[in-house]
Amino acid sequence: MSDHHELSTENPELIREMLLGSGYAEKAIDYYLRREHMGSLPDANQISELTGQCGDTMKIFLKIKNNIIQEAKIQVLGCPGAIASAMAAMEMVKGKSVEEAAAIRDGDVYKIIEQLPDQKQHCIRLSIKTLQQALEEYTAKKVASS
Ligand code: FES
Repeated sequence: MSDHHELSTENPELIREMLLGSGYAEKAIDYYLRREHMGSLPDANQISELTGQCGDTMKIFLKIKNNIIQEAKIQVLGCPGAIASAMAAMEMVKGKSVEEAAAIRDGDVYKIIEQLPDQKQHCIRLSIKTLQQALEEYTAKKVASS
């Protein structure tokens, strides 16, 4: 696991200052501190989990109806880069079709969160891989049941 896991949001201004100092954009920090899409969905019809090479884990909850992603939440056990990119990715997928969401790439998330330190680029990868895995599993289930 990365060494950022103990950061709490008890002192957001201090955390903001620290993250700015280590190369996070204000936008990325906002996503990290707000954590708007963090959590689980009791009525999800697709749940997938992925652990990255760094040891951080994401568990995604999607509510998909008529091929549209209606709700998306994600539980992230990971660094600020993982949390910021996962929050931005969940915001992007809402309202999209399964195919549109599957076409989202790391660069699309990067554009939204604006900047992460260089060594944190793989954190975006983990969010996208988790999303893609969920969509692949969902599509496979659908094919199997049709
Ligand atoms: Fe593991 Fe960021 S260090 S996702």
